[in-house]
Amino acid sequence: MDRRDFLRTTMLAGAAMTLAPRATSAADARVDVLLDEPIARIDPNVYGHFVEHLGGVVYDGIWVGEGSRIPNTGGIRQAIVDHMRRLPKGVLRWPGGCFADSYDWRDGVGPRESRPRRTNFWSDEMPARPDGPWKYDPNHFGTNEFVRFARLCGGEPYLAANLRSLPARDFYQWVEYANSPAGSTTLAELRARGGSPEPLGVRFWGVGNETWGCGGNLTADEYAVEYRKFTAWLPKYGVPLSFIGSGPNGNDLSWTRRFFTTLTAKGEGALNSIWGWALHHYTWNASRGATTDWDKGKGDALAYTTDEWYELLHQASLMETLITGHWAVMGEIDRRHRVKIVVDEWGTWHKPGTEIHPSHHLGQQSTIRDALVAGLTLDTFHRHADKVAMANIAQLVNCLQSLFLTDGDRFLVTPTYHVFALYAPHAGGEAVRTQIGAPDVGYQRVNDRGEVAGLSGSTSVRDRTVTLTLVNPHATDATDATITLRGGRAASARAVTLAASDIHAHNTFDRPAAVAPSAESAVQVGSGGTFTHRLPASSVTRLTVALG
Ligand code: AHR
Repeated sequence: MDRRDFLRTTMLAGAAMTLAPRATSAADARVDVLLDEPIARIDPNVYGHFVEHLGGVVYDGIWVGEGSRIPNTGGIRQAIVDHMRRLPKGVLRWPGGCFADSYDWRDGVGPRESRPRRTNFWSDEMPARPDGPWKYDPNHFGTNEFVRFARLCGGEPYLAANLRSLPARDFYQWVEYANSPAGSTTLAELRARGGSPEPLGVRFWGVGNETWGCGGNLTADEYAVEYRKFTAWLPKYGVPLSFIGSGPNGNDLSWTRRFFTTLTAKGEGALNSIWGWALHHYTWNASRGATTDWDKGKGDALAYTTDEWYELLHQASLMETLITGHWAVMGEIDRRHRVKIVVDEWGTWHKPGTEIHPSHHLGQQSTIRDALVAGLTLDTFHRHADKVAMANIAQLVNCLQSLFLTDGDRFLVTPTYHVFALYAPHAGGEAVRTQIGAPDVGYQRVNDRGEVAGLSGSTSVRDRTVTLTLVNPHATDATDATITLRGGRAASARAVTLAASDIHAHNTFDRPAAVAPSAESAVQVGSGGTFTHRLPASSVTRLTVALG
């Protein structure tokens, strides 16, 4: 059954149902969970994060210093660690981003007081911002501190190596620094002097970042040659090193095709040296088709029209075709699909002006709209659990689509954090196919009409518990969804929702719980195991269904 046929059947079925009176107008939708159609296990690493030395991410955000009056563990902000421990244990990527290709890891090791101060990669973009560690990096947060932070959060570190301005030697010596046994090498002793005698056991390594741009301005062919050189030999120390190649900018399929062609020019064995292929996709263009200009196309994080609300959700939904498009091209060369997709930068990117503190370059507020982008994107990753092995939302704190905002001792969680918490039971579950039928929502673009899917979501199963997450993008209308499990029977169900009556709703230091999930409540399940649940307008909902 194709999507249109399914929709037609859905609407007929919906018309025959008796529903409670509607508080607002509500469209009907049908959700069929196909328990017998598994996709793959959802890797918890799709719940990964990104930490770059950019604006307020490290200094102010994560690193407050050991002497700070802000509660901390060894200089690391305690509130972030505490909240991260409630989320899936995904990887954390560091130190960039574009910063990575200007970074010498040697600057951030050894005794903290003797580390050099360096001009930050982003400082030229910050002339109007105050001077501070975000412009002149004191390197107090280096490799040991980052790995400690990742482990405190319960996640694994993912280090991005500098391919633009350091040779391959520095890469393999960074691996030696991180992973060589205690006391074995001079670099292991240096690591110990910085407080970590035991190996850091770093498995994930990025080989450059955005090498088509800030990471060297290379062609895909040039990068493939560099990639082969950088990964030709690295010391393993028993750690299964997993290298991640710097993939395309959005839908640049030719970057993927050229890279894999040149990578394998000397034989398919080269595919053994690449574990993941990094794709970057930001949701930024709110102009509704008016422009593709990177600066002009961005909209405000807080002030937007309903049409701009839909446009941004539409932009987020493009992740689906990016994944399937690049996957198909990768398969032309990597026929057995050994290499997986790593979306190591994703999220919303709005224009400047809503940052919490003037030092927070690329900082922005985060509303219920950003939360829906997170829900749509995570659902997309689940639906492609066979392809996407890791993803990293950009960035963890005080930058782009953050989970946390801080200003000195003030701290809040954004609506996006709540989506990560809501979706947590998916991590490690088996994704199964879900068929959704709901009328698309239309909206006005500058020169044409746009559409977003009227309902989207994903399902996973673990230990006879089904987790179904659904995003209702409608700005004003609730949706009554009739949910049927095919291949199993629902015995009982519970629901929890993140919603807001105002599409601009967000959390502030004064109102930190303005957007927060509802209390979880029971959902009535009919004797046939099918049930109907009302999804409020502009909401993200998790349904937890026990199988009978
Ligand atoms: O996340 C901000 C920047 O966006 C990163 O440094 C870069 O990789 C991307 O262009």
